[in-house]
Amino acid sequence: MHIDEAIRSRRSVRAFLDTRVAENLLRDSIELAARAASGGNLQPWRIVAVTGDALADIRARVATRLTEQPDGEPGDYEIYPPALWEPHRTERFAIGESLYDLLGIAREDKAGRKKWFERNFDFFGAPVGLFCFVDRRMGRPQWSDLGMYLQTLMLVLRGKGLDSCAQECWSLYNRTIASALQVPPELMLFCGMAIGYADNEAAANRLQTRRLSLDQFAEFHGF
Ligand SMILES: Cc1cc2nc3c(=O)[nH]c(=O)nc-3n(C[C@H](O)[C@H](O)[C@H](O)COP(=O)(O)O)c2cc1C
Repeated sequence: MHIDEAIRSRRSVRAFLDTRVAENLLRDSIELAARAASGGNLQPWRIVAVTGDALADIRARVATRLTEQPDGEPGDYEIYPPALWEPHRTERFAIGESLYDLLGIAREDKAGRKKWFERNFDFFGAPVGLFCFVDRRMGRPQWSDLGMYLQTLMLVLRGKGLDSCAQECWSLYNRTIASALQVPPELMLFCGMAIGYADNEAAANRLQTRRLSLDQFAEFHGF
């Protein structure tokens, strides 16, 4: 697959087939993605992939926590800055509304929206879940390296016919995940990622996301 096609065809998939992902395909992808650049070559990403019983255990633990603590556990970081400003505020609103429109879940249907949101914690039915951690001592530059790794991974997966959805929402249950996976205390959960093969019949996967126009985010000087 040409790199442009991998970039264009990558999208956040929110409904998966139960087709299993071959272990070597996943291992190779996780390894190849580590060719991502990182400042000082620190490679600050720490990855845990789960499937089978390990994934079932996470799903069960988080399902319990969703009822015990529906607003999530004390967070390690703010998912968004408070009081988002334009143009980000509009984009964030638009993506939610487009998705709920496709799914036919009205704005007033709070229970329906909550139920859909909770599908995140089932990895949207994906056969593989992945968690990305970073050492708490790392700073903002290393956090940006995590993004380098994750995007590279999502593109590598595309090249192998796989789909994914990065999921910050797992940070709401960071303590439960850390304890289930027995990660050392210095590691902090950034996000999860659902990995598998897209169910192309599912309404959620028909979502078309837009982007800011070039002149809204880039300037060219001296050309
Ligand atoms: C770090 C990160 C975290 C995300 N967290 C979630 C999430 O928790 N749940 C979800 O449904 N989508 C999540 N997304 C997907 C974004 O909503 C999506 O990337 C964005 O709307 C653009 O759409 P696209 O990925 O289909 O191009 C996340 C994306 C990134 C990069």
